[in-house]
This record gives sequence, structure tokens and C-alpha cells, in this order.
Amino acid sequence: MDPVPEEQTAETVRQLRALATPEGAVALARAAALLDDRVDAVAALSRLRAEVGTDLAGPAWGIARQRHKARATFGADADRMLFTSDALEQAGRPELAARRAARLLAGGADSVADLGCAAGTDTIALARAGARVLAVDVDPVARELTALNVEALGIDDVWVVAGDAVEMVAAARGREVAGCGAAVLDPARRAGGRRQLDPDTWSPPWSTVVELLEKVPTSVVKVAPGLDHDRVPAGVEAEWVSVGGSIVEALLWGSAVAETWRRATVVRDGVVHELTADSDPGPASAGPVRGWLHEPDPAVIRSGLVSLVAADLGATLVDPTIAYLTSDAAAESPWVSSYRIDEVLPFNLKKLRALLRERGVGRVVVKKRGSAIEPETLARQLRTDARGTATVVVTRVAGAPTTLVCDVRT
Ligand SMILES: C[S@@+](CC[C@H](N)C(=O)[O-])C[C@H]1O[C@@H](n2cnc3c(N)ncnc32)[C@H](O)[C@@H]1O
Repeated sequence: MDPVPEEQTAETVRQLRALATPEGAVALARAAALLDDRVDAVAALSRLRAEVGTDLAGPAWGIARQRHKARATFGADADRMLFTSDALEQAGRPELAARRAARLLAGGADSVADLGCAAGTDTIALARAGARVLAVDVDPVARELTALNVEALGIDDVWVVAGDAVEMVAAARGREVAGCGAAVLDPARRAGGRRQLDPDTWSPPWSTVVELLEKVPTSVVKVAPGLDHDRVPAGVEAEWVSVGGSIVEALLWGSAVAETWRRATVVRDGVVHELTADSDPGPASAGPVRGWLHEPDPAVIRSGLVSLVAADLGATLVDPTIAYLTSDAAAESPWVSSYRIDEVLPFNLKKLRALLRERGVGRVVVKKRGSAIEPETLARQLRTDARGTATVVVTRVAGAPTTLVCDVRT
């Protein structure tokens, strides 16, 4: 986390409180209307100052902009909630928070500590799922946001408190933390605007993650999707979640709520698909390129479950080190996207250009795995006036740099 000067924090808290008054609500409504009318920032701010006063104009404009951004994720709630840009950037998806809350509470816990509540996404989901929630944060702005958001959404049974999760977890006893039988921990994984790849630099750090999972078995921790499998403690379930083909979160479930060893959760068109393994299924075997290429969903790859999908599809890897599968048929499966392979050639730009010209292909989408090429650059280099389209996959096949030209349409 970046240290923010105390006066700045106190000023942000004061502004948030001012926006939660009836006058603040009027200022926010005006700012939202100006934003919807696409009035530029300078003109909008000057109109707001004249209409609602200098004190409310700037904060109202700032929050209106965050609400606007938040709508895609938070839906109707966004227009009732308050977010700073920092809190919105750190916020998870409410539908996934709801899913997490339901699973955590299914074990029978009725009180949950949300350790690092930020703008309150998890707190809100937990309270809506029926829990009493102790929302904890070291940051006064986060606490204010959570308190105001909970109130704005008419949610009861939430207590917002100042506290350091590191100390609370250190003091945890009897499978409880801060008097709660369950916990959600979502460490801050950014500092100075950058992702912190080393879990020891998260706030709270990895040592607190492990300690919580050990001491409070009804707990779930949000971690970076790139987390090394070797770090996952024994008896803990690790789950990777993707939405629309992109990985969005990774979770560690404590032993009282763990149901399996690894889980890949793939959300496609609003439908949730889950693939699980109770133990390491090992790697898939490799084989020659056949008629179809299958690109596993990133949640399947990250969770280490590619070999389960390979077995299901009767497919093999194109290379032992590359997560592309190949088989004789297209797959109707949520775990992969399938491409018909039309041409296989060693990677060579000149030969690829000649082949695409011959096939009448002028526009390509480039995919790559195990290659240093830049997909957008290669797609530009291959662009011509020809009407046909194709997907060009640059990868390694049995160790050799190879191009697969797929789904040619002319
Ligand atoms: C990633 S955010 C939580 C986001 C939240 N779960 C959501 O989806 O909106 C992490 C939060 O943890 C808080 N935090 C960081 N270190 C902490 C600590 N030692 N104790 C309590 N809170 C902490 C940060 O201030 C921040 O608000």
C-alpha cells in the first residue's frame, strides 16, 4: 500500500461524509446528469460549482465518474454506492463475491470477519447472504466507504471497525478471528500503481494468509491468479475463476470449506461450469498435430487440470510444455475453444505470407503460446486487401517453432 498523508485521508473522509448528506445527494445527481450528457470536465466543474457550491462540486464530480465506471460491474448498486478510484480498482466482482459468500456460509458460520473491506464488496455480499459481518480495514477511507455503502444499500448486521488484520490473525484462537467463526481475506496486491507479484509484499503478507487458513478453517483468501501451486498449503482447496475467457480471481479455501484439491470455475454466458480434481492428475501426454486445435480456458490451465480435459476430449498436447491440445474433432466443451487446423508449417514469415496470399486471406487474428512474437504486430504485417480471414496460431510443436493456420474463411 502507498502511505497517504493523514490530512489527505481526513479530507477524503470529510468529503465522503458531505456527499452522504441530502445536499451531497443533489450534487451527485447533478454531476451524474452532466456526465451522462457528456459535458467536458472543465465546463461540468464550473457549472457544478455555481449550482452546488465549491465544497461539493469537485468530490461529486469525482464520485460520479467512479460510479459511471462501476456500473458495468456493480449494476444498479453503483449509483447508490461511493467509490474512490483506488477502492474501485481493488474491488472484486459482486456476483463472484456473492458466490463466495454463499459457499463460505454453507458450512453453518453466521459471523464473518472481512479482513480488508475496501469499498465493501465482500462485506455487502456476506451480509446479503445472511451473515453478521465485522468489516475491518486499516484505512479510514475504506472504512468510511464501507459504512456509507452498507447504509446506502439498506444493509443491516455490519460492524465497521479499525484494525490490523495481521494482528487480528495473530491473536486468532479457537477457530475464530476477532470473535467471528469465518473470515474473508483479500490482501492488497498493488503498491505504487503496480501489481505486487511477490506474495510476501502483499498487505497483509503471505505469512498472514497461511496463518489464517491454518487457524480459521472456515475462511477464504483471494490471491493472485499467478500464485505458485507450491505455496498452496496442504488441505486447502485452490480455485481459479475465469469469466468470458479471462481469469478474474484465484481463491484459497480453508480446510473446513475445502471440497477438493483444485477447481477451475469457468463462467461463460452467465453459466457456471466447474472442473475439479481431488489430487494432482499429472500432465497430459503429447502427440502429433491432428485436425483440430483446442485452447484450454485460462482457469483450466492455471488450476493444472489440462490433462483432465485432454482425457475427456481424447486429445493430446502439441508439445509437452505448451497448453494447446489437438484431436480429430471439434469439441463442444466449456473448457476449450476449438479451431479447425487447415495448414501446419514451420514458423517463417515469408512462407506464411505466401500461403495466406494463395488462400486469399487478408485479415488474421494471431494467437501465440511459447513464442516471443507480438500478436498485434504480426497481424498487421500479414494484413492485405484479400477478403478471406483466418486464425494464425504461433507456437511450438514437438519443440519446433510452428505456425498453424486455422479456420480459413474465404
Ligand atoms: C484488495 S482490497 C479489498 C477489496 C475488497 N475485498 C473488495 O472486493 O472490494 C484490500 C484492502 O485491505 C486493506 N488492508 C491492507 N492491509 C491491511 C491490514 N494489515 N489490515 C487490515 N486491512 C488491510 C486495504 O486498505 C484495502 O482496503
